Parts: sequence; C-alpha cells; structure tokens
Amino acid sequence: MNKLSLDQVDLSGKRVFIRVDFNVPFENGHITDDTRIVSSLPTIRHAMKAGAKVIVASHMGRPKGKPDPEFSLKPVVPLFAKLLGAPVAFAEDCVGETALAAVNALAPGGVVLLENLRFHKEEEKNDEGFAKKLAELCDVYVNDAFGSAHRAHASTEGMTRFVKPAVSGFLMKKEIEYFNRSLADPERPLAALLGGAKVSTKLSVLENLLDKCDIMLIGGGMAFTFLKKLGHEIGGNILEPDMLDAAGRIMEKAKAKGVTFLLPEDFVVAESLDAAQGRVTDVHHLDGKTIAPDIGPATIEMFKKELGRAKTIIWNGPMGVFEKKQFAAGTMAMVEALAASSALTVVGGGDSVLAINMAGAADRIDFMSTGGGAFLELMEGKTLPGLAALTDT
Ligand code: 3PG
Repeated sequence: MNKLSLDQVDLSGKRVFIRVDFNVPFENGHITDDTRIVSSLPTIRHAMKAGAKVIVASHMGRPKGKPDPEFSLKPVVPLFAKLLGAPVAFAEDCVGETALAAVNALAPGGVVLLENLRFHKEEEKNDEGFAKKLAELCDVYVNDAFGSAHRAHASTEGMTRFVKPAVSGFLMKKEIEYFNRSLADPERPLAALLGGAKVSTKLSVLENLLDKCDIMLIGGGMAFTFLKKLGHEIGGNILEPDMLDAAGRIMEKAKAKGVTFLLPEDFVVAESLDAAQGRVTDVHHLDGKTIAPDIGPATIEMFKKELGRAKTIIWNGPMGVFEKKQFAAGTMAMVEALAASSALTVVGGGDSVLAINMAGAADRIDFMSTGGGAFLELMEGKTLPGLAALTDT
C-alpha cells in the first residue's frame, strides 16, 4: 500500500484541507488524552510552514447528524492552539458561507478548525452534495485521520472524488509504513500477542493473522473459550458457547499452518475482582469458586520465550484485568517484554496502549497505532475506505 504523501505535493499558497481525528476523550470539560491532537501536529505544521491556508476538520463523538453543544469542537481550540504554538481560528460550521468566510480570512500559514463534521447527517451518509461542499473549501486534500480511516464518510472518502490530489498526512503515512513492516511484509518470525475479553470480537483478526504469523499467543478472557474447547474445566470464567466451534477451527488452522499457537498454562485466581490479592493455579485446577483475572508466572515465562525469538511483534489486547494492580502482572510483563525486545514492536487498541503508558514504556515501543477500530480492521485484512481513496504513488 503506497500512497502519495503530504511532502510530495506543493502546498504553497494553496487552501489545504486536513482531515484529522480529534475525537479526543473529555472528562468534566477537560481533554484527558491529547495523543490524537499531538500526533497530527507535524502534518499541520508542515502545511503552515509551506505557506498554505490550513483548514483542520474532524468529527467528535456521535452527535446523530445535528448540532449538539456536547459534541462541539470549540472546546478543543485552546489546547490545540497551545500545543501548536500558534493561533487557531474557529468556524461555527464546516460547510457553506460560514466555513468559506473563515477560510478566506486566513493569511498564508494561518489555521482554522471547523465545527464537528457530524453536525450534518450527510457526513456519515457519504452524501455526494455534502462532499462537494467540503471540497469547495480547498485545493489539496490531506487525510491524517487514521482513527477514522475505516469509515466511508464524506470527509474521509467522498471528498477525494472532487479534490485532487488526495494525500496522506505524516501520521497516516506512519500508520501505513508500520502496517507494511509488521503485517504486509514482516521480518520473521512474526508473533501476534492477543488478549481481550471475547473471541467473538476478535474472530476475524485471529483468522486473518493466522495466515500471516508464525507464533500466536492468546491471553485475556478469550483464552477460556479455547481452553473449554480443549476439554478443560474453566470454572467461573468467560465462556462464549457460540464460539466453541470457531475456537476449534482456529486451533485446527494453526496446526495445519504450522503456527505455534499457545494458550495460558497457569493463572492468578481469586474469589472476586475485589480480592486484595490472587494466588497461582495451573490450568488443570480452575474451579467454579474462583475467576482467573490474570495469566500466571509460568505462562508469562512461556510467552516471553516465544516473544524473545520473534523479529516482529504485534500486540492487541491485555492479558487480564490490568486496571487492578493485583491482576496486572501478566499484562505488565508483556509490556516489559515488548519494551526490552529488539524486534519491531507494533501495538494497537486502547487497552494495550493504556497499559504501555501506565508503565511509562511508550518510548521503547516502535509504534503505537492511534486507531482503535481502524487498527483492528487492518488486522482483519480489510481495506480501509479512507486509505484506499488516497492517490496512489
Ligand atoms: C474512534 O475513536 O475510533 C474514531 O474516532 C472513530 O469514531 P467512530 O467509531 O464514532 O466512527
């Protein structure tokens, strides 16, 4: 996948529309994680330096196609301007006279943030007329919103039919580069470390990754459906009865493909998540009186050994309930294994990224994707509409 990028086009004096993903979390009126804003700053700064009139556009939340103050992007302006180190104008609407006037008022190098794209229902419907209205604002289209690349919306897909070139921003370019290096053309062995609560939400990921990887390590709640399929008593842990056949199919496929497929062989168990601490039990002694919110020390060692021989590691999903420190050891040991590894390490998904940040290990991981759903769809082998729409090199 090779797409034209921002540094390959002339931006000087042009009106440049940059689709970003500023869908940042808010708590009590404050932005609690600015990663997505910070991640798009290099793209925005590049366009400013080139003397472009810079139009920044995003969605925020799911406002159901009409204006709703709860989802306004206006409160993002002060933090955005502070992080950018430059003033940011705000347009109360993303299309029409208001938006055009705000763009026309920009000096070269100036920046305007448009109001939430999803205040118009036509955005999510990928309406052609609305896409044309957005396209009227600009001469060059840039997509830096990897987190929304799995959406075929007017601002991520429709517009690209009416503005050429349509190029990737630097964040998008980096996401594509690490996807290519970790999954499309990885250095082998490739290990996939997968966790999370349910097989059902990861089924397509598991199936697709089995075609690509050499080692697959399974932790978290979803391990129990596999263990049940193998005939283990899994006690009070999560079972998805509907997924038992799929779990069997996956294990068969792993065997047929010669993929090293490993499930936990011990756990930290407790009567409840409120227990002050857990105790270690092997997989043969799970019982109905306890739950197993973390993998155990033997499993940690086994997984570390496998990760130690990998040249590329993809990680998605925690090994247990790491938000509780008494059940965090397994997930944190995996963070440390990735951080210490000389393999190319790529991580996606909110929980895994959170665990890495909690451990202060972000600078020792090669790449943490900014996409949740978009990252998973790439892992599922799907084509992302927002990526496919960009101009090929
Ligand atoms: C996300 O946070 O995953 C993206 O911003 C996409 O949001 P959406 O799921 O509402 O399209």
